[in-house]
Parts: sequence; C-alpha cells; structure tokens
Amino acid sequence: MRKWPAAGLLGTIALGCGCSRNPSVLLDPAGPHAQATGWLFWLFIAVATVVWVIVVGLLLVLMLRSRARGGVVAPPAHPVVSTEGRLRLIVGGSVFATFLILTGLIVASFTVDRDLIALDRQPSLDVELTGHQWWWELRYPGATPGETFTTANELHVPVGETIRLRLRSVDVIHSVWLPNIAGKRDVLPGVDRELVFRVDKAGTWHGRCAEFCGLQHAFMGLTLIADDPQAFKAWQEAQRAPAREPQTDEERFGRDVFVSGPCGLCHVIRGTDAAGHSSSAPDLTHLKSRTTIGAGAAPNTKGYLGGWIVDPHAIKPGVHMPTNLQSPREFQALLSYLETLQ
Ligand code: CUA
Repeated sequence: MRKWPAAGLLGTIALGCGCSRNPSVLLDPAGPHAQATGWLFWLFIAVATVVWVIVVGLLLVLMLRSRARGGVVAPPAHPVVSTEGRLRLIVGGSVFATFLILTGLIVASFTVDRDLIALDRQPSLDVELTGHQWWWELRYPGATPGETFTTANELHVPVGETIRLRLRSVDVIHSVWLPNIAGKRDVLPGVDRELVFRVDKAGTWHGRCAEFCGLQHAFMGLTLIADDPQAFKAWQEAQRAPAREPQTDEERFGRDVFVSGPCGLCHVIRGTDAAGHSSSAPDLTHLKSRTTIGAGAAPNTKGYLGGWIVDPHAIKPGVHMPTNLQSPREFQALLSYLETLQ
C-alpha cells in the first residue's frame, strides 16, 4: 500500500516536468488575459495551501498531544459548559473564517473578470476563425476583396495590438483554447461569438480545440504566431498575394494536375482555376508558409506532404480528405508544384 503515494508523487513530478517542456501552459502568460487568470490561479492555490497547512497542522498537534497522554483524552475541568463554549468558538470561528475566505475569493474572481472585460477595448484587427472537423479556417477581412485572404491552422497576429477573433463553426461544437493567451471560448454552429485578446511578446504558442468534436479532436491544433508589427505586415502582404506562378514544366504540369483533378474541387489556390469550396478544405495558396499539415498532425515537409496526398488517413484517421490515386508522374509533379507555394 505504501508504494502508491510514492508512485503518485513520481507520476505528478513526471507530469509536471512534461508540462514544463510544453510551452502551452496558462502559467507562462504571454498576454494580459492569461496573466490575470494566472494571478487568480496562484491566489486560489495560496489560500488553499494556507488552509490545508492550518487544518493538517492542528490535526497533527491534537494527535501528538493525544499520544503524549497515552491515547487518553483528559476530562475537562468543567465538563458541560467549557466543552460547549469551546465547541461554539471553534465552529463559529471556522464558519466565519470560511465565509471570509470564500467572500475574498469571490471578490478577487469578480475583480479579475471586470479587469478582463476592461481589456477588451476597440480591437485593431479582426480575424474570423471557423471551426471545421478537424481544422481551423482563418479569414483576414480587408477593406477590399484583394486585401482579404484565407489561411488555415496558423494564426498570425501583431504584438501589442488588440485582436478580435470572430468565432463560428460549420459543423459541431468546437472550443478554441490558447492557454498562454486567454481562456477557452466555445465555437458554436449558428451562434456568433468573439474572443478578444492581446499578445505582449513575440513568439509561437500552441492552442487546441478544447471541446470533444469527433474522432480527430486531439489533432485539431491551432498555432499562434505573434510577430512585431512590421513582420506581421510583411506576412500579411505575402498572404494577400496570389500563388506563385510555376517556373518549370514539371511545376506547370503539377498545377494542371491540381486544378483539373480532385484537389481543385475542394481546395482553393488563389491565382489559379482551383476555386474549390474553401469552406470545406484549407486554402492552399501559401501552403508552404505554414509549419504543419492536417492542423498539427504532421510537419509540413515534402515527405509528409506526399504521404498526406496519397493516404491522409494513415496520418489522421477519419479526416475528410479522400485518398488520391495519381500516376507516379502526376504525383511527383503535383508535389513539386505544391512545394513552391510559399
Ligand atoms: Cu474541434 Cu475538438
């Protein structure tokens, strides 16, 4: 029996170490929303720890005193009155202390809520985030259609600016969660919701879908990349541009395979005739500017991309993309072309 507490402690330490390698934690806040929530978390932990130490301490003192008397509880000097008076004092004091602690925590929670709402000032950037089984569509609306573009699974934002994510879902309930940035927000079909946040330091953070949404719920990652405003502008300009023109015969053939084959029925590559239904599959105009494929299911390397085209189910079982049976020549050309989509 004694082994179990030790095993539990080791497990907790191992989990803690695992968490410390993963940057996606609330306790490493990168913005004011996560910071406020993190502060509340530490306050609750501190209060709970103090209460625990007092309760366990008192218990130990009583046990030790009882043991010192050989397990015999000494009869009180004035049995009835004194015991009742002490009991009243202890119970009344405990109830009062509990009331004070709970009121304090409620006030702290309310204050943090109020501060979080106050942070949601006029956003300087609107981004539309649409949940799909099992990936995220990101649309950056511009003043004109030429300035509007769509990408997938990687959310780029400028540091220090207030961002408003407009959330919607086209199928089931998802939930967007970027632990270092802000709390979870459900993404509901038929209901428009928002998540307003700010990132205060440049970097890359990983988020997840936090609501079970089907077979590949665990592989519905969202990467947040916060750049300084100039780098963000450069990224935005690059994303607005249509796809790079193919330079070689093989790349041109690859584009024809894409446009005339099944790929172009679902995916969009702006600047080509592939104008598939972008709301059913990710926009691939700048596919190779992204770090992963399949919403974090695999790195965006040529090898994985090839494997994904041939049999995406081997990488992400249940994914809505079908397997593809091209001839080797078509496949190689298609892959060569896709590799150029920076
Ligand atoms: Cu989408 Cu879980």
